[in-house]
Amino acid sequence: TRTHKQVDLTHTTEKMIGDRLRKYESLFKLTPEHMRRLVKAFTEALDLGLAKPKQVVPMEPTFVFGWPSRQEQGDFLTLDLGGTNLRVCLVTLQGEGKFEITQSKYQLKEEQKQEDGQKLFDFCAECLKKFVDAHLTDENGGLRLKPGENLPFGFTFSYPCSQERIDHGELIRWTKGFQNPHTEGQDVAAMFRKSLERFNLPIELTALVNDTTGTLIASHYANPKSKIAVVLGTGCNAAYMEHVKNIPKIKHLGIDDNTQMASNCEWGAFDSFEHEHLPRTKYDVIVDETSSKPGEQAFEKLISGLYLGEILRLILCELIDEDVLFLGQDTSQLEIPYALDTALLSLMENDQTDALLTVIGIFAHFFALETAIEERQFFRALAHLIVVRAARLGACGIAAIVSRMDYLEEGCLVGVEGSLYNKYPGFVETVHEGLQDIFGEQGRRVLIPLNIITHHAEDGSGLGSAIIAAMTRIRLDAGLY
Ligand code: GLC
Repeated sequence: TRTHKQVDLTHTTEKMIGDRLRKYESLFKLTPEHMRRLVKAFTEALDLGLAKPKQVVPMEPTFVFGWPSRQEQGDFLTLDLGGTNLRVCLVTLQGEGKFEITQSKYQLKEEQKQEDGQKLFDFCAECLKKFVDAHLTDENGGLRLKPGENLPFGFTFSYPCSQERIDHGELIRWTKGFQNPHTEGQDVAAMFRKSLERFNLPIELTALVNDTTGTLIASHYANPKSKIAVVLGTGCNAAYMEHVKNIPKIKHLGIDDNTQMASNCEWGAFDSFEHEHLPRTKYDVIVDETSSKPGEQAFEKLISGLYLGEILRLILCELIDEDVLFLGQDTSQLEIPYALDTALLSLMENDQTDALLTVIGIFAHFFALETAIEERQFFRALAHLIVVRAARLGACGIAAIVSRMDYLEEGCLVGVEGSLYNKYPGFVETVHEGLQDIFGEQGRRVLIPLNIITHHAEDGSGLGSAIIAAMTRIRLDAGLY
């Protein structure tokens, strides 16, 4: 085992680090004025997405009509294909807002994000089969379903899809590093059905659901004051309930103007291609240009868990090149793209020890590097700057929806899912401070408690997808689809 030597910094290096920190502080800082300008641009992008098809922020209609009654009942299967792993749930809705969930997680390998799309869906169906065999068979190995009975299934597919019905959706483009060929432009629901058939599963794909839409419905089911949902994890996106009369681009469908439909914003795409609004640093530009989809998902690339660690790593690499950090040490491990996971930033910020022992451990264990205390404090300060910017940008997006829907006066809850929100120390408070900065008067934070409060939407996408499948069944029975 390695023992940690005391690493001493020369006085010049220490001063260089101090100077750099001030530079990064100004690069990553977002003033309340800037945030308000962003909210305005964001609101305009939302309006445009509702007005016309194929806009940068596409505001996808989801064909989820209105809120659940909380009386939905029955057994539903769901599968969540989100970014990091696969989750299969059996959800039993018991009415009166009660439910039970049994779930299993399956690991998704990096290579599976690059192979043929149909193969990826075959793997999903295989996981479903394992789950059905483990949880839905009786002691004799027979299925706990009546002959001919199919379980309704909600497929949570967390990528931008353009839908014409609830059980259909054309993948507009992959996001979050997925690149599976032969999938973009295809109806992923139809592809998934093929895979279900291949495994001969007694399952019927009832609803294709984005994770934000699922979270929206699940968090309203848990608390009817919840009207907006956000996912802050590997990716970043939001959904909310819109009045059909305010979605001009679907007028031709002749849907009753008095109904409401959930809108999947796909806000991760805000400011893509033109890059007119977001404060991108040169590190953000490198993240973008070296990504599988340069130009796309501009907002998401500044906010989501997939990219934050990489932004920090790029800053560290620049300082290595400039001979400021890790002098005389082998830095090759840290120079590997995406070697610094965002979860490590979270651990660094959680470190309460004076010597920053966790930070020592991270650099020693993952990168075989020794660090001086000043460096460790510096790394932690950098992680903080990057993540505070992310949280404040997230607040801008929430504020845009709040403004569009006029929720400030009456107030609302915002259900949030995702590891960045749930696990990163101080993230929630920073989002709330950001909202205060946007809605406070003259840049002063309002002293009264803010009406817009975020909360963790537990089990959001799995539960939500099941409720949506249940709502779909009810509408189908009533002849409404
Ligand atoms: C990406 C996807 C979006 C999803 C989000 C969070 O932005 O495009 O559909 O909701 O990640 O998972």
